[in-house]
Amino acid sequence: MKKNILITGAAGFIGSHVVRLFVNKYPEYHIFNLDTLTYAGNLENLKDITDAPNYTFIKGDITDEVFIPELFAKYNFDGVIHLAAESHVDRSITDPFSFIRTNVFGTCNLLNSAKNAWKENMEGKRFYHVSTDEVYGALEFDGSFFTESTKYDPHSPYSASKASSDHFVRAYNDTYGLPVVISNCSNNYGANHFPEKLIPLSINNIKHNKPIPIYGKGENVRDWLWVNDHARAIDIIFHNGKNGQTYNIGGNNEWSNIELIHKLCEIMDRKLGREHGESAKLITFVKDRAGHDLRYAIDSSKLQNELGWKPSLQFEEGLEKTVDWYLENQEWLDNVTSGQYQNYYEKQYKERQ
Ligand code: NAD
Ligand code: TYD
Repeated sequence: MKKNILITGAAGFIGSHVVRLFVNKYPEYHIFNLDTLTYAGNLENLKDITDAPNYTFIKGDITDEVFIPELFAKYNFDGVIHLAAESHVDRSITDPFSFIRTNVFGTCNLLNSAKNAWKENMEGKRFYHVSTDEVYGALEFDGSFFTESTKYDPHSPYSASKASSDHFVRAYNDTYGLPVVISNCSNNYGANHFPEKLIPLSINNIKHNKPIPIYGKGENVRDWLWVNDHARAIDIIFHNGKNGQTYNIGGNNEWSNIELIHKLCEIMDRKLGREHGESAKLITFVKDRAGHDLRYAIDSSKLQNELGWKPSLQFEEGLEKTVDWYLENQEWLDNVTSGQYQNYYEKQYKERQ
């Protein structure tokens, strides 16, 4: 029987990889992509599947209290994979309320609509919330990892909003019996990543010989995962994860920002035919991010042992592939960095001087 699956935020970075995987792998599903197309949403990311017979795009806002319940009533979704969010920490510092609205209220609106639509029979239904490791706060340089039982301790408005939405997802499971699953993933990188985030921003700036802004001393550590490996994990968890459970997803791949940028500069020098060391001259240390989390590192052994997932790609190989994608997709980069982006970026950069 054909299943209707709703994927929210699928015009964005991670969602576009998830929706492509589902549309191609599961012809027996009909995939609905619900996205309001903020600055971060781009239908260009999905042009290869736009005409697929099992794919429908719906433009809509997850915070809309009339439209969302109507959508659930109309399509009788069997499953929801919820990725729509405001996702950038720096933006959450300047505009926390849009994060509360979308990430907290929008998630609750979806949960409530699912609860009402499914209340007669929740058998076989699933609400999957895609979340972040940033809900756990920050680690020291002591070799420790975030596990699924690490206490929540968010610091930025972004991570606080995601932590809050995780709590609501669990509350709907405990209170109403809504079948839910949550995953908390580390930093992703790969194609279609909006160039406000460290890796694509640096690729774009290196290409245009602009300064690469490094916050503070560049000692902060992130655990990087190739976005396609995250999409594979979401597929596995959606289908095989246990009701009410949380799964951590990570690359076991820690890099300080400065080490990572030096590696990226080396690759860019090679790809652009520059002399070794030329791109690294663009590195510029700027004012640190307020409340900047020191280190993230994920223990994903639960997912690996219970559901058999593991990352497929070494970081160096993934970074090369990512650089190749940005160099081959100059038009995509030009489109997303024109207009509003310039104002945002120039303002951010000026404020950090
Ligand atoms: P993104 O910013 O690239 O994409 C977000 C998408 O959501 C966009 O297409 C946007 O148009 C859409 N959206 C925003 N507000 C909406 C609203 N009110 N209604 C409907 N659609 C809306 O984000 P991303 O990096 O792809 O992240 C996707 C999800 O994964 C988020 O929930 C994020 O918290 C989580 N996550 C991201 C990372 C990462 O490294 N990027 C890591 C772990 C978890
Ligand atoms: P980012 O890509 O914004 O992801 P997150 O804040 O969700 O981890 O940032 C990754 C790291 O890079 C983080 O420690 C902040 C740092 N950073 C810079 O040093 N310079 C930049 O221009 C940006 C955007 C981030």
